[in-house]
Amino acid sequence: MKTKNHDAIVLSSQTEKDAQRRFTELLKTAPLAEDELLANLGLFLTSKTLSRILFFHEMYRKIVNTHGIICEFGVRWGQTLSLLSALRGIYEPFNRHRKIVGFDTFAGFRGMAEEDGAACKCQDGSFSVTPGYEDYLNELLGLQEALNPISHLRKWELVKGDALETIPDYLRRHPETIISLAVFDFDIYKPTKAALEAIKPHLIKGSVLVFDELCDDIFPGETVALREVFDLNALRIQRLPITARVSYLVIE
Ligand SMILES: C[S@@+](CC[C@H](N)C(=O)[O-])C[C@H]1O[C@@H](n2cnc3c(N)ncnc32)[C@H](O)[C@@H]1O
Repeated sequence: MKTKNHDAIVLSSQTEKDAQRRFTELLKTAPLAEDELLANLGLFLTSKTLSRILFFHEMYRKIVNTHGIICEFGVRWGQTLSLLSALRGIYEPFNRHRKIVGFDTFAGFRGMAEEDGAACKCQDGSFSVTPGYEDYLNELLGLQEALNPISHLRKWELVKGDALETIPDYLRRHPETIISLAVFDFDIYKPTKAALEAIKPHLIKGSVLVFDELCDDIFPGETVALREVFDLNALRIQRLPITARVSYLVIE
C-alpha cells in the first residue's frame, strides 16, 4: 500500500495500520504538559520504530574508534540523521571531524531505471517530502548540535539535488573526506550505484556500510548496484536479530 500524499510504501497489516492511526491521533492530541512532551516521546515508540533506533546505536558503536565522516544517502524526513547527531552528542561530543552529511533531492526518487523492476510501483517523485522540508530539517539538526559542546562548529550538511551530480561534486569540494559510516537508503539503482562508485576511494578498513534494501524483491536495484560496484562474494553482509530489513558490512 502507498501513503496518500507522498507515494511511500507501507507494508503493515490492517491491524498494524489501525493501531498506528490511533497512535498518531494520540500523539497529535497528547494531553501531556507541553514542557514535558519531548522528554516523553518514548510513549510513542513501538517495537518496530525502536528496533531501528537500536540498530543505528549498534552501528554508531562500531565506528566510534574509526576516523571519518558519516553520510546518509537518502534522507527523506531525516530521522536517521537526527538520531546519528544525538548519538554523536552521547559518544563523542568533541569530535569535530565526525561530520554528518545527508544527500537527497528533497523531492522524491530521481532516476528510476529498468534495474528497479516493477514491484514497487514507484516513479520519479515517489517518497517526496513537503515543500521546503530541508529548511525545517536544517533547523532541527542545528538544535541537535546546539545541545552539545562545540556547537559553534557546524558539523552537518544537507546536500540537495540529484545524487548522480551532488555526491561527486561534494567529494570534489572535500578531497579530505574519509567515510566511516555510509547509510544507503536511496532504495533505487542509479543513485545507489553512483554513490557506491563515488565513495569507494574514500572508504577505509573498518568503514561500515549500511543498506536498507539488500535482497529486497520490492527494491532490487540496491542489490544490483552493490553487486556491480563490489564483488558480492567478497563481502560479509550481516544483520542484527533486532531488525528485519537493514543490513550492514564492514570493509575488511
Ligand atoms: C526511503 S527514502 C529515505 C528514508 C530515510 N533514510 C529514513 O531513514 O527515513 C529514499 C530517499 O531517497 C531519495 N532519492 C531517491 N533518488 C534520489 C536521487 N537520484 N538523488 C537524491 N536523492 C534521491 C528520495 O528523495 C527519498 O527521500
